[in-house]
Amino acid sequence: MKQNVGLNFEGELYEEGDRAYLWGKKLIVINRGDANGLMAENFRYFDLLDLDPFGSPMEFLDTALRSVRRRGVLAVTATDTGVLCGAYARACLKNYLARPIRGELCHEAGLRILLGTVVRYAAKYDLGVEVLLAYYRDHYFRAFLGFKSGARKAEKSLSQLGYLWQEESGRFSYERTFLPERPNAYGPLWLGPLKGEAFMEEVSKELEGFEPAHKKTKPFLKLLSEELDVPFHYDTHALAKRNGLQAVKVSTVIERLEELGYLASRTHFSPTSVKTNAPFEVVIDVLRGD
Ligand SMILES: C[S@@+](CC[C@H](N)C(=O)[O-])C[C@H]1O[C@@H](n2cnc3c(N)ncnc32)[C@H](O)[C@@H]1O
Repeated sequence: MKQNVGLNFEGELYEEGDRAYLWGKKLIVINRGDANGLMAENFRYFDLLDLDPFGSPMEFLDTALRSVRRRGVLAVTATDTGVLCGAYARACLKNYLARPIRGELCHEAGLRILLGTVVRYAAKYDLGVEVLLAYYRDHYFRAFLGFKSGARKAEKSLSQLGYLWQEESGRFSYERTFLPERPNAYGPLWLGPLKGEAFMEEVSKELEGFEPAHKKTKPFLKLLSEELDVPFHYDTHALAKRNGLQAVKVSTVIERLEELGYLASRTHFSPTSVKTNAPFEVVIDVLRGD
């Protein structure tokens, strides 16, 4: 509980009291106190606030939204994937006031529940949320969020909230609405974009000629940047099983959908899934080989 700063970079870093110096310059102040206390005392202060607690970030969300600068960036990590992905649905209702889904859409829905919750919390501070990049990886969720100040901006973000439905066949639908009018709705969840074009361009420029510590970072970012940014996806294996069909290779499904004039891509949520703007019937026809 006493350590709230994790530093992970190379350089001549040393500590002196509660200050840390890098190459002789004062760049970092280490605070060993409670993160909520620190954030509560620093109203609209931090340019970049990286919330990376154990489990759920909810305990820190209010203070974080108050202490990040209005032009700042809030990074949020959630490792309570069991809760957000429906293994513990009651805990999800309690912590996020949302109903999670199980099955092949659980990771994307979990991420969107997390984002939807941040949007709802931010709205009361008249903050609209801009999702710079949000993803699921190695059993955790991660989001980088920018903000737009003002009541109208907050309302605009709220208008991207809605609900998800899924049938036995795997057909899904979603609707942007404050209150679901049909039964068996999952959510509320964020139905807006999961990445911002300008942010992605900046990240890829930064990465030119730079080798990140992890070999998989660059391929993962490439996958994210090429991913079609539409809500939810079709898992070809799950869909085949649900409809008594043979599984077809993802690359073949994408090719076929593109031949038919639809947009289609792989998704980081699952190696066997496709994101597309094609209707459910067309995806089923493609799996059938029609
Ligand atoms: C998942 S780790 C973060 C690791 C860090 N971001 C890194 O990449 O090295 C969570 C950290 O939050 C700290 N922590 C938990 N509750 C805290 C609180 N209320 N105030 C400050 N730090 C807290 C824990 O001690 C732990 O070091």
